[in-house]
Amino acid sequence: MDIYQKPPLDHVRQLLDENQLPTEDLKNPNMDHFFWCGENDSVNAVIGLEIIGANGNDGKDEKVGLLRSLAVSSSARGLGYGSALVKRLEEHACAIGIEQLYLLTDTAEDYLLKKGYTKIQRENASEAIKRTKEFSGLCPASAAVMRKSLLR
Ligand SMILES: CC(C)(COP(=O)(O)OP(=O)(O)OC[C@H]1O[C@@H](n2cnc3c(N)ncnc32)[C@H](O)[C@@H]1OP(=O)(O)O)[C@@H](O)C(=O)NCCC(=O)NCCS
Repeated sequence: MDIYQKPPLDHVRQLLDENQLPTEDLKNPNMDHFFWCGENDSVNAVIGLEIIGANGNDGKDEKVGLLRSLAVSSSARGLGYGSALVKRLEEHACAIGIEQLYLLTDTAEDYLLKKGYTKIQRENASEAIKRTKEFSGLCPASAAVMRKSLLR
């Protein structure tokens, strides 16, 4: 499966809109840490990393990132795109020094549990994650907060 970096922003918006995922805070520079699959510029699966920086709880200086914008078009589901993109994003995050990946989800908690993410209490999220637009407003308060350590 071919995975590309930096998808065209308008195609990403369209796919995320179709899946009721937030697009308000997406801008072109963010696309550097996005990956996609598709053909002829048609994006049928996407995932993104928002780099949050270092600011952990309990005085820990952990480098954290937000896995976001995971969506596969309805006609391409069940073919492994989602799994391949999660793996690629984790490799990328690890390579640039991210130690903890967070995500918020309303729809795919079980899917991400199987990929090693653990559901945590909202209040236990890193302070830096709490300040992201996804956490503080764009994702519903009912969304599960999940975390995975990339440290080996
Ligand atoms: C969740 C999603 C990304 C999965 O992508 P995908 O490419 O279809 O998934 P894969 O092919 O990698 O994996 C398929 C497996 O995951 C399971 N699965 C798919 N979506 C699931 C979900 N929402 N919850 C639990 N399991 C799910 C399938 O049943 C299948 O299981 P099997 O291997 O035991 O048969 C895709 O369904 C999607 O875009 N959903 C809508 C948007 C969304 O929920 N995004 C997540 C935001 S964090």
